[in-house]
Amino acid sequence: MTEPTTSFEELWSTTPTWTDEELKEAVTQSPLEFPLSEPEEKVQAAMRKVWDRHTLERYVQRWDDAYVPDVPGGLWDFDWRACDVGCGFGLFAFRESGRHPERAYLGIDKGTRRGSKLLQRIETLQRPNLFGMHGNAIPILARMPDESFDLLSLFYPNPWWPTKHRKKRWSYHPIIPKLISLLKPGGELLLCSNEGFYLSEWLFAMQHHPAAKGVLEEAYVGPVTVDWVESRSHFESKFLQAGLPCGEIRFRKVG
Ligand SMILES: C[S@@+](CC[C@H](N)C(=O)[O-])C[C@H]1O[C@@H](n2cnc3c(N)ncnc32)[C@H](O)[C@@H]1O
Repeated sequence: MTEPTTSFEELWSTTPTWTDEELKEAVTQSPLEFPLSEPEEKVQAAMRKVWDRHTLERYVQRWDDAYVPDVPGGLWDFDWRACDVGCGFGLFAFRESGRHPERAYLGIDKGTRRGSKLLQRIETLQRPNLFGMHGNAIPILARMPDESFDLLSLFYPNPWWPTKHRKKRWSYHPIIPKLISLLKPGGELLLCSNEGFYLSEWLFAMQHHPAAKGVLEEAYVGPVTVDWVESRSHFESKFLQAGLPCGEIRFRKVG
């Protein structure tokens, strides 16, 4: 996605607005309607197969000798902590950290431009409860202690359309058990998307993944709970401004 026409300095201070030309890029390929339909049986079977066979330990071996950034130490000074995974330009962490100075917000993005701009911006701001990491969230999260977060958010992940790429979707990912264990009891895992198929797969994962059984309970499944002015991410602002329906799924860790 290209940046909105606002300057980078404005990216966090106002809700991004998009030109008509930019809004034409915002498309939804699979219809989004509630209640969500279940994924087809062959898709369910594919998901279960991947969950059974792929472990996070094997997946993260590729980072054994690679650089993985350290988690900013100040994060642990806060009792309440949130992490936005694949945060893009970091709008959610920025906004919420301003509203809740007693809570810590960490944004992680691996994108070359988004991730490095995020860090520059956070360094300039010097806001004590706002943290950013430029890197791949998988090895970062894999190394974090369990029960680190009160909120984990995944806003508008790449749908990875072609079937051959489906294992890159969060609903197939071997990080799912770790995402669940990273939540504190009562903590929430939030995912938003404009794609009906993506939300259906994620809902199925939250309901049927062996690591979620008896551990997660549904908190909300429906249209996004914000309007355009309160958009929590750049993708959300674009989809909502374009008038495309977006959905939100929240599961809470019981405890
Ligand atoms: C479609 S964009 C959405 C960005 C933002 N969440 C939003 O809604 O505006 C997906 C983002 O996730 C990031 N991403 C995907 N996989 C990631 C990973 N494993 N670790 C860190 N960032 C990741 C990409 O770099 C990209 O910025």
